[in-house]
Amino acid sequence: MYNIYMISLGIETSCDETSVCLLMDKKILSLQTFSQVDLHSVYGGVVPEIASRDHLSKISTLMTKCIAESGISVSDIGVISYTSHPGLIGSLLTGIMFAKGISLSISKPLVEVNHREAHVFTCNITHGVSREFMCLLVSGGHTSVYCVDSDMRCTEVCSSVDDSVGEVYDKVSKSLGFGYPGGAIIEELAKYGDGKSYNLTVPLRNSMSFSFSGLKTQCLKIIQGIFAKYDVVQHLTHTDILKSLNCSTCNTISMYSQDVANLCASFQVAILHSLTSKLEMLLCSGAFKYKKLSFCGGVASNTFLRDGITSLCEMYGVDVFIPDKYLCTDNAAMVANMGILMLDCEL
Ligand code: KG4
Ligand code: ZN
Repeated sequence: MYNIYMISLGIETSCDETSVCLLMDKKILSLQTFSQVDLHSVYGGVVPEIASRDHLSKISTLMTKCIAESGISVSDIGVISYTSHPGLIGSLLTGIMFAKGISLSISKPLVEVNHREAHVFTCNITHGVSREFMCLLVSGGHTSVYCVDSDMRCTEVCSSVDDSVGEVYDKVSKSLGFGYPGGAIIEELAKYGDGKSYNLTVPLRNSMSFSFSGLKTQCLKIIQGIFAKYDVVQHLTHTDILKSLNCSTCNTISMYSQDVANLCASFQVAILHSLTSKLEMLLCSGAFKYKKLSFCGGVASNTFLRDGITSLCEMYGVDVFIPDKYLCTDNAAMVANMGILMLDCEL
């Protein structure tokens, strides 16, 4: 049933990205993604009702663009892969119904894809790795380490007992009065800060689990302190702060901006430390079954974390695979890829 030239149509609508992709033998023929961030940023997070309505209004146009860019016709599609879970129910339903409609109209099989597994196996598209590897998945919904065996079975080795790293990035950004999603904003501001300014601690250092809610609370308390100290300027946007950090004037705004940048940098240092110390513990305990690590999920598009994870892997002689940034955040290429892999090994 499966051949390497089979074209997989991937459909991703689990959260706030509407994404459609045509993939053939790890080659992306076309990937069309519409991000809803501008619609949700004013609310400081994703509003499920707005998300599902917007998926519905964009998905057909994205599909038309995908077909046009790839130069194939709909009947050339061999399999339709869609994200079935986890995700926002209304958003998922839009993708599911769209996928079913296409499948019925061209009589081609449907494959249900788990969103988390789609992230984990992204390294198959970018590095041709689909078996015998470890994966650190860090996104808005997950912070976990997985082990993928020779049969492509994906087993969780450890995960967060509370918040995911992406959630904490978003929460810190929101508390500072910045937009959603927070990851890229915090990363940008952190470049101007001193990561040693705040000594933030991450609990469960000696446990097999991650925990980030305590770090979130520490940051929120520091933010309250910063707001109290610089009372007048607390409603500045992150763009105002960037402007201030880029000019040499010394005033209350610049001092406030520097303090915020220092907190962002210290926060990133704490996140990296938590991720690397857990990986080190797994490496030393023998739980790291394969000396290959894929780092993926939306948070893996962060350059500071990518560099930190790469350095750790170099130190321990672990081959590291980090997808291009646009394949770290939610996208339909990873879904199309997962569908093909599932057909291939009849998972
Ligand atoms: O994988 P993803 O697109 O969606 C989920 O499956 O959750 O991840 C979204 C998360 C958001 O929390 C966002 O703030 C975070 O990824 N993110 C980043 C960066 N870009 C996106 N976090 C840190 N640094 C970034 N550059
Ligand atoms: Zn995701």
